[in-house]
Amino acid sequence: MHFSGKPILRSKNKLATVLYNKKILPFYYKLGMSWENLPRIEPGQFIMLRISHQVDPLLRRPFGVYKTFGQGAMSKKQGIEIIYKVVGKGTKLMTDLKPDDTVDILGPLGNGFPNPLSSPFAKGGQRGLNIIMVAGGIGIAPFYLLAKNYQRSAMSLKLLFGGRGKDDLPGFEDFQKLDSNMDISTEDGSIGKKGLVTDLLKKELSKKGAHIVYACGPKGMLKEVAGIAEKADVPCYVSLDNAMACGIGACLGCAVKTVRSSVFGVRGKKEINSQLSTRDSQLYKMVCKDGPVFNAREIAWEEL
Ligand SMILES: Cc1cc2nc3c(=O)[nH]c(=O)nc-3n(C[C@H](O)[C@H](O)[C@H](O)COP(=O)(O)OP(=O)(O)OC[C@H]3O[C@@H](n4cnc5c(N)ncnc54)[C@H](O)[C@@H]3O)c2cc1C
Ligand code: FES
Repeated sequence: MHFSGKPILRSKNKLATVLYNKKILPFYYKLGMSWENLPRIEPGQFIMLRISHQVDPLLRRPFGVYKTFGQGAMSKKQGIEIIYKVVGKGTKLMTDLKPDDTVDILGPLGNGFPNPLSSPFAKGGQRGLNIIMVAGGIGIAPFYLLAKNYQRSAMSLKLLFGGRGKDDLPGFEDFQKLDSNMDISTEDGSIGKKGLVTDLLKKELSKKGAHIVYACGPKGMLKEVAGIAEKADVPCYVSLDNAMACGIGACLGCAVKTVRSSVFGVRGKKEINSQLSTRDSQLYKMVCKDGPVFNAREIAWEEL
């Protein structure tokens, strides 16, 4: 259930060939890239992509791995798909990528979502395990692999997917094709329930409860999800998307303030913390190396 805190250094940078780069919604694209000898990639792990050979933007940009394909098949090209939102210089440049262009990938990096079967609730096996995935907009990225991995398991997996409007739900159809159990919310009511995805979570937890909540999306949403899960006494894991420069723990640019992991438990975090000085009870972790997925109770949310 716990993360090793070590970078996955079997990762090397690779030159990959662009297979496709499709616009799927006004601000969202899917980028497919070949990857020979594709390693196993856990849901929540990411790659650092160097988009251009120009000096600006020099830095790589982090992207979650959305899909993998071709594993185990001799004849089929192996590769990955990422789903990206155009927000700035780098992602705008990415929209110009064409089939057969070469990109530079570093990965897979980081620690993904913990396997639900390592949860103390899974002692009796998969049957009856109730998992909720909460995604906000582009925060959907890690959940396709997760849903696919457990698609045929005896666990119950539910996706709560929220966005501003119908154009802010990238990959929505992929989950329909997977036959996922999914509830949608949009702030403008253009599709699904009008409101926030956190409203769906509150409803789901009060109706059916859950054994684990996994979440990815904007920080405000994650903070709210963490609070709701804590109130309901449900373990919650969040994927953070701090801006990154190196992606491998070298530049300290993605630091996040945490509560020392040895002092939080499922219950009673506050009583234990009150006996410790601030210096003792808080420390910084690197989102790229120690995360991007963290136990929600580990994050100093008020400092984020
Ligand atoms: C582990 C991880 C996984 C990610 N997975 C995905 C993914 O699957 N798909 C996807 O579209 N994006 C993902 N992101 C976010 C993505 O890396 C940024 O959107 C991208 O780096 C922006 O690059 P840019 O050059 O276009 O924007 P910049 O020109 O660098 O910035 C443009 C604007 O976007 C903001 N911004 C930049 N980086 C981030 C960030 N990390 N979070 C929030 N705002 C940011 C800047 O503050 C600025 O306002 C992920 C980030 C992390 C850390
Ligand atoms: S991005 Fe450099 S330490 Fe995390």
